[in-house]
Amino acid sequence: MELHPFYQELGLMYPIFQGGMAWAADGKLAAAVSKAGGLGIIGSGHFTGEQTREQIKIAKKITNKPFGVNVMLLNRHVEDVLDVIIEEGVAVVTTGAGNPAQYVERLHKAHIKVIPVVPSVGLAKMMERIGVDAVIAEGLESGGHIGKLTTLALVPQVVDALKIPVIAAGGIADGRGVAAALMLGAIGVQMGTRFLTVKESGIHQNYKNAVLKAKDVDTLVTGAYLGHAARVLKNRMAKNFIKLEKAESVKAQPDMETLEKIGNGALRRAVLEGDPEHGSFMAGEIAGLVNDELTASEVLEQIWTQTTSLIVQ
Ligand SMILES: Cc1cc2nc3c(=O)[nH]c(=O)nc-3n(C[C@H](O)[C@H](O)[C@H](O)COP(=O)(O)O)c2cc1C
Repeated sequence: MELHPFYQELGLMYPIFQGGMAWAADGKLAAAVSKAGGLGIIGSGHFTGEQTREQIKIAKKITNKPFGVNVMLLNRHVEDVLDVIIEEGVAVVTTGAGNPAQYVERLHKAHIKVIPVVPSVGLAKMMERIGVDAVIAEGLESGGHIGKLTTLALVPQVVDALKIPVIAAGGIADGRGVAAALMLGAIGVQMGTRFLTVKESGIHQNYKNAVLKAKDVDTLVTGAYLGHAARVLKNRMAKNFIKLEKAESVKAQPDMETLEKIGNGALRRAVLEGDPEHGSFMAGEIAGLVNDELTASEVLEQIWTQTTSLIVQ
């Protein structure tokens, strides 16, 4: 099956991005995915420029294939991060948590593709107007920060509204999911949760085990009352946090500062320390389908074999 020209231009073998995941997607994971023929994406989260450069250098040591960096636009180091990305000549920038309008021209001048993650048709159209190369339409099944629409409802509506390519994300972890996304009009997919447990993923083994053990109903949405909903695996941290949020939300003057303090750093604690007491084990609803620790290459090959067999039938 021939890939969309967008992927051919990037030199990919599979129309599959590994989603940029703050802390969880480091240079080693991104490089493994790119080396295997997908597009690996480093999650730069709240990193400084130099922390981002460190991960880019790690990726470059492992592969000379193109890879991407996800830029969290709320990061106070965003300018430095973008400078580093341009200096290092990264192929793709995906963006989250904001509007990349002011950076598109600079990135394009450096021949970097700009691909924002969008949760709605309105935002997708706005992104097309500012000249981005494609969008990632992400449904609320996904791990991490989420919008309000499901992948199945969001993707075809975004596809119909835009002329630029649409990549589907949220709830995809096997060839059936990829085939479904293609049927909805997406040119390919982005997966996050599926890659958390691959051999090259550096997250703490407790975190990997939690994803491997998770069933379909084992995620919760935290932060909804704070206005930044995030999907995480059920654990003590998630349950306590939701209890606190609910209690604060009915008060005349909710103590948002304390909640923010508890939430901050929770993903880092999960990834580096595997701490279920204070760590947010972000993962999507599809975690129930993720039951093995294969290599990135095995995952990509397996998924694409299943996709093509379903579509060519
Ligand atoms: C642990 C984790 C961290 C994430 N961090 C980010 C992030 O920093 N920026 C971003 O745009 N998306 C982030 N995401 C979303 C992923 O890039 C991807 O779009 C999402 O995981 C796709 O849905 P899936 O988990 O159902 O595959 C994160 C997801 C997970 C699971």
